[in-house]
Formats: sequence, structure tokens, C-alpha cells
Amino acid sequence: MPAIVLVGAQWGDEGKGKATDLLGDQVQFVVRYQGGNNAGHTVVIGDEKYALHQLPSGVLSRHCVPVIGNGVVIDLAALLEEIDEIEARGVRCDKLLVSANAHLIMPYHRALDKVSERFLGKAKIGTTGRGIGPTYGDKVARVGIRVQDLFDPGILQQKLELTLRDKNQLLTKVYNRRGIEAKRVAQEFTGYAERLRPYVADTGLVIGQALDAGANVLLEGAQGTLLDVDHGTYPFVTSSNPTAGGACVGAGIGPTRISKVIGIIKAYTTRVGSGPFPTELTDATGEWLRAAGGEFGVTTGRARRTGWFDAVIARYATRVNGITDLFVTKLDVLSSLDKIPVCVAYEVDGKRHDDIPMTQTEFHHARPVYDYLDGWAEDISGAKALEDLPAAAQAYVRTLEEISGARVSAIGVGPRRDQTIEVNPLL
Ligand code: GDP
Ligand code: IMO
Ligand code: MG
Repeated sequence: MPAIVLVGAQWGDEGKGKATDLLGDQVQFVVRYQGGNNAGHTVVIGDEKYALHQLPSGVLSRHCVPVIGNGVVIDLAALLEEIDEIEARGVRCDKLLVSANAHLIMPYHRALDKVSERFLGKAKIGTTGRGIGPTYGDKVARVGIRVQDLFDPGILQQKLELTLRDKNQLLTKVYNRRGIEAKRVAQEFTGYAERLRPYVADTGLVIGQALDAGANVLLEGAQGTLLDVDHGTYPFVTSSNPTAGGACVGAGIGPTRISKVIGIIKAYTTRVGSGPFPTELTDATGEWLRAAGGEFGVTTGRARRTGWFDAVIARYATRVNGITDLFVTKLDVLSSLDKIPVCVAYEVDGKRHDDIPMTQTEFHHARPVYDYLDGWAEDISGAKALEDLPAAAQAYVRTLEEISGARVSAIGVGPRRDQTIEVNPLL
């Protein structure tokens, strides 16, 4: 079985953690390929709830090897803490593999993320403040620090001195912050080296060999399509490529290895942070949706912005990711509505758009064109098969399928593993 990509089809928080965990027992590897601890993936198993930030959601499946790929940026102190916390709950992390090529989030990245947001004022992106943008910036500028640098203290110190030369000018002279001493950072990070060493591997090689041997490899995306630095609502995006193409780069495998792309999509829409959101509800209905869906960030605790399902975005996600199967989550949240609006197109300056407009300015002006579908009153959280759903809920799913351009293979009716209707086999 080749590699399968699991990707967020909206602005993140679609339920990727739950979907990944669900497939954990059927795959031998789960690989995170981008992002860092800006992610917050929730997995609910029975009465136990786990919030994963850097650990791939496969960590909860005993026979699965969780891998942090080269495309991820790692906050080491936070990762080691996450490992300690989850091991204290009886989940073993001894199989974890961490790419030697993954970049490290350094203290100055976190500091720069926070001050640059403050300086942007009203134009701020609303980042998670975890140092993600500055770390990817340094990666591209070729002044980043990688996992493997931890094992060569001389090189680590040298690289830190070089990069801190201009970082400290920025921090002290532009942002009026305290400078950071290379020696002190080098000491702190070499201190982590021994704890990390058992996990460090040439992960691209391991994954390639596993695929050759016939293993099932699941590539777990963080964030979502509209937060992609190339394909999202730039500049209100994250600094990596969550889209399926990014899975090849961030895991170190070729595109011919991928046989399936599962798009995770909520039955409505949410977004955290700034940026355009055509179907956003800023009224009492939006508040109701936030409360009904428990839409508060797993990483920052921020209230998520809420809105109706947006088929323009769904079609776009299907196209840019090559989605073969959709996993519609949180259908249960919509129970009790009389009519459910679904955005089928946009109107921009009097003109109908069936696709995302070409420019940012037009997207900011996009107004949703709604179809109104019938709602249902029944509690569907115990449904096990499509036929268990009320006719209106079935019709809602079928409509989503038609207007999104990919078949719906699974439906989430609650946060637990077992609250999933599998319409087609996901693997
Ligand atoms: P992720 O970042 O994509 O993994 O998603 P988050 O974990 O940030 O947010 C999804 C939230 O929805 C979590 O609280 C999940 O437990 C919950 N969830 C996932 N699927 C379902 C579902 O089908 N129904 C309900 N009610 N909750 C769900
Ligand atoms: P998961 O994996 C939702 C958003 C932030 C901000 C923008 C940039 O749980 O779906 P960053 O800190 O990445 O530079 O912030 O991206 N963002 C997320 N929104 N879910 C996430 O992750 C997110 N990770 C980042 O809110 O708007
Ligand atoms: Mg999340």
C-alpha cells in the first residue's frame, strides 16, 4: 500500500487529529510533514482526551511509528515536555522518529514572532506566537538551525553567532528588546541533545524503505489548505505548505508514492486569527455555532471565528490537493437547525464567481451566495451508518459531495473514535 495524505481542507481545526487516530491501527507509520507547535490536534479515545501539538496523532496507536518529518519546525523544549506529559498518561513514545533535517524553533524566533505581530498593529496576522514564521524564514534564508546541529557543538555555536549578529540588531535596535547571547542558547540546546538522540533518524530513508516493503504510511498535515503559504489567503496564512504537495517535500518522498488524498472538512467553517472569511457569521448565530461546536483553539484557547460551509473553498481544496476522498466532520453540531445555508458561489462587485477570485482584493470583497438546505432535529451522535441519519442529514452530505467535487467517504458525528460513519473504506 502506498502513501496516503490527510490534509485540512479549510482553515485548520477540521478534525485531522481524530481522523489520523482513526486510521492509526491500519497504518505502520504516521508522518507529520509541516508546521510545528502552532498545531493542536485533538484525539478522544473513550473518556480520555489528548491534545497533540508536535507529536503525530499516530503516537496513540501502539503499533504505529510516529515520525516528525524534515518539513516540520520543532520547539525542542515543548516537544520534550509533550513526550513527558503523554508518557505520564501511559502512552509510550519509544518508537518516535525525528528527522535530522528538521529545523528548530529558537528563542529568538519566538521573540521575533511576538514583536513583529505587535508592530503590525491592526494589520497583524494573529499568529499563535510560537515562532513559526521566523523559523521558516530562516530556513529559506539558509541561516536556520537543524536537529543535526545539536550533535556538533562547535557548528551550533558558530551558526548561532552568525545568525544572532543581525537578529540581535533587530531585537535591540528596532524592537527595543534584550539581545540574545549565542553561547547561552548553544548551552541550552546542547543540553537537549542527549535526550533527543535516540529519536533522531534519516526519516526520508526510513519511510522510503518502509514503502518499498509494502508498509502503509499516513502523512498527517497540520493547519489547512487556506493557510498554505502558496495557496492560502496570503498574507493571512502560516509559513509552510499544508497542501498535499507539501507532504512530499516535508516527508522526503516522491509524488508517485501517493495513492490517496483524504481531505478533512467540517460541515461548516471556522478560522482562527485574521484574514478574509466570506461565510463568517458575526452575529448570535455565529456565537451559537461556536458554542455548539466547542470552537475554541486547542493551542491558544482563542475563540474561533465561525461560519457556514463554503463550497467555493471546498472545490478549491479538492483541486489544489487532488483530494480523492472527503471526511466530513462535526455533522452532529448542525442538528436542530431548521434551514442550513451553504455557500455555493461568491458575488464580487456584482459578478458571480464559482471559483476563488484571482486577487486578494477581490477575495476580501467576496459575498456568499447561499443555497438553503433542510435541517434536521434528531440527535445523530449515535449513528453508525449513513442510513441511520435522518433524510435531511443524508441529503446535506450528498449536496456537500456534489458541490465539493470529491466523494464523501467518512462522516464524523461526535469527537470519539467510534463516532464515525465510514461510507467507503478510507484505506
Ligand atoms: P485538528 O486541528 O484538525 O486536529 O482539529 P482540532 O482538534 O483543533 O479541532 C477539532 C475539534 O472537533 C476537536 O475538539 C475534536 O475533538 C472535535 N471533533 C472532531 N470530529 C468531530 C465530530 O465529528 N463531531 C464533533 N462534535 N466533534 C468533533
Ligand atoms: P491545526 O493543525 C488553525 C493560524 C493562526 C494564524 C495563522 C498563522 O490545529 O489545524 P502561525 O502561528 O502558524 O504563524 O499563525 O495560522 N493557525 C492555525 N489555525 N489551526 C491550526 O493548526 C493553526 N496553525 C496556525 O491562527 O491565523
Ligand atoms: Mg487544531
